[in-house]
Amino acid sequence: MKDDADALAIARTVAAEAAALLRGAQDQVGPVRSKSSLRDLVTEWDTRSEELIRRRLQALAPGVPIVGEEGGGAVHPGPGDLWLVDPIDGTVNFSHGLPLWAVAISLERDGEPVAGVVVAPALDWEFHAAVGGGAFSGDRPMHVSTVTRLDHAVLVTGFPYDRATHPANNFAEWEHFQRRAGACRRLGAASLDMCMVARGWLDGYWESRIQPWDLSAGAVIVREAGGTVTAIDGGPFRSQRGDAVASNGAIHEDILAELAAVRARMTVP
Ligand code: IPD
Ligand code: CA
Ligand code: CA
Repeated sequence: MKDDADALAIARTVAAEAAALLRGAQDQVGPVRSKSSLRDLVTEWDTRSEELIRRRLQALAPGVPIVGEEGGGAVHPGPGDLWLVDPIDGTVNFSHGLPLWAVAISLERDGEPVAGVVVAPALDWEFHAAVGGGAFSGDRPMHVSTVTRLDHAVLVTGFPYDRATHPANNFAEWEHFQRRAGACRRLGAASLDMCMVARGWLDGYWESRIQPWDLSAGAVIVREAGGTVTAIDGGPFRSQRGDAVASNGAIHEDILAELAAVRARMTVP
């Protein structure tokens, strides 16, 4: 890959092609299967979208490895370029007719996201960014919100598919922020959650036990919109860690402190 701007141009082209494939697909979703757990759904459109994206990325950026949700491949932190692909982020919403779902593509270089695009075909939304180039909603520059108080902030999060049986289910964190934040939302597509933080519609996002392709594109978009992205413990963000806090920056330390407080309570015998 020549540079981040090239990577972004390729990602945007391919995401637009996947969006064209998927536009109207909600009217003919077809069979819906469960995969890792009862609640983790997949449709033929997830598979078709990923096939298209892989074929086109390989054509436009030969030799760059690809990791996608439906097509396998492992994320190895290390040197070099890597595409991360979520062919439909928000499959539960997609299969139920809700418009909040997206195609997410990012390029990571040496484990750092450097270019990302998130397209929501049913809403005609497109968000993109490359390092140093700013973040955009369509063609318009976008910026995070200016909210400075947690009790005025609208936060968003998600819950893992095994939430009914796994103790790390985000329920305690959710309850805590319902008391501390202005409001909390669960919208069902992590990549869009992060773009809504970048767009200034939401002020902060946290989630853990999530996949690299859910987080990577949104991370570069939030940063380029002026926001902050870290790991949930405040350390450096790495998509392969599977957790993130993304915010407008002003409330970032407050979110981290509240998460640390809930988690400390959970480990007390
Ligand atoms: C899911 C969504 C959801 C998040 C889940 C993800 P999928 O992605 O991003 O918001 O809470 O953890 O798995 O399965 O619809 O691609
Ligand atoms: Ca996803
Ligand atoms: Ca998916």
